[in-house]
Amino acid sequence: MSSILVLHGSNLNLLGKREPGIYGAVTLEQINAQLVVEAASLGVRLLAQQSNHEGVLVDAIHAAWGVHDGILMNPGAYTHTSVALRDAIAAVGIPTVEVHLSNIYRREAFRHHSYIAPVAVGQISGFGAESYYLGLRALVRHLRQMAAPTS
Ligand code: DQA
Repeated sequence: MSSILVLHGSNLNLLGKREPGIYGAVTLEQINAQLVVEAASLGVRLLAQQSNHEGVLVDAIHAAWGVHDGILMNPGAYTHTSVALRDAIAAVGIPTVEVHLSNIYRREAFRHHSYIAPVAVGQISGFGAESYYLGLRALVRHLRQMAAPTS
């Protein structure tokens, strides 16, 4: 059974309270609970972690090596600043899908660039909490296609 690591970056522990007009009313606990439900229906294992610290997220990516088959990641503001997260994903080579609740391309110019996108399988942005569930589906499909490229 494939195993997926969900990584939430900076300030995402405040979901539900934080700028709800942009990020919605759903809490991180609710998103994680729904991800577990979605993972079960897709037949994969899922572990979710959140940190506000860049180095902790880098360590989590390193620790995923040989343990998890895919990473679903919302790096938060580190999306736009972190060469270290980008390099960690490139180093471990674990297929990673980048997700954002808001549509980062409709917002301030500094959010339009992602350091993660060039090393990600793909990116889903703008569907609120649904971005995570769509991202999980896309990641699981990608992993299955990699395992059986002709199907
Ligand atoms: C975010 C978008 C980022 O620009 C922002 O810094 C976040 C959340 C999103 O999910 O929409 O913290 O990643």
